[in-house]
Amino acid sequence: MTPSPLDCWHDGKSHVKHLESKDRYPLDQTPLGKILIRLVKKYHKEGMLIDVGCGDGQLSEYVDNYEGWDISDTIDNVSRKAYPNASFAHMTDAEKEGWEFLHGMNTVVMSAFIDVMREPLLVLNSILEHCTGTVILHRQEVSGDQSTAFRHKRNPSYGGWTWHSILHSRILKDTFKKHGFEIVEEVDLNIKGWHQAKSYVLCKIK
Ligand SMILES: C[S@@+](CC[C@H](N)C(=O)[O-])C[C@H]1O[C@@H](n2cnc3c(N)ncnc32)[C@H](O)[C@@H]1O
Repeated sequence: MTPSPLDCWHDGKSHVKHLESKDRYPLDQTPLGKILIRLVKKYHKEGMLIDVGCGDGQLSEYVDNYEGWDISDTIDNVSRKAYPNASFAHMTDAEKEGWEFLHGMNTVVMSAFIDVMREPLLVLNSILEHCTGTVILHRQEVSGDQSTAFRHKRNPSYGGWTWHSILHSRILKDTFKKHGFEIVEEVDLNIKGWHQAKSYVLCKIK
């Protein structure tokens, strides 16, 4: 049986486990979270910020004009339970989504989102096609020998089974360029076991 592309937090119970987990720290107390908050505060100055694949929506605590988007199960079972006062919306499976809702948004954040796609490049291409402003892409790349990267592999994660599809930096950068984005900041996350993962801030060249 082909596994569903919707693996992360999709078994109905893993959301609850996640929300109650003692390992769930506030975003500003984790190394990755600190970097994401710093980038968002630096680059998101006006208009709406859309958090694609927002998960529990922790970022909503640190930013104005926030809207988190995720698949229905996650929005209903995780995001709205964790942050009842924040704004969230349902999207479909990323492989089928049209992404028109990203048009005109000042900032689009993707944190640990492309990494969990079964078809990361397909999803990234269709998202970037619709982004008109700043994109913050958190922890997405591997450098060196591409064959050593995780690609299209399912791993236990977030209390369930999740695709891990980390893209090679060369492919990632070619994709940004193809869609008219320049990299305005590149942050080396330098976290053990993360295969030189980075965060990128991209701006569409007008
Ligand atoms: C690893 S979590 C990241 C959550 C949050 N952005 C963070 O940084 O903690 C990945 C998110 O992507 C969503 N997701 C996974 N596969 C998806 C798919 N095929 N289509 C849409 N969303 C998906 C999951 O529901 C989950 O919330």
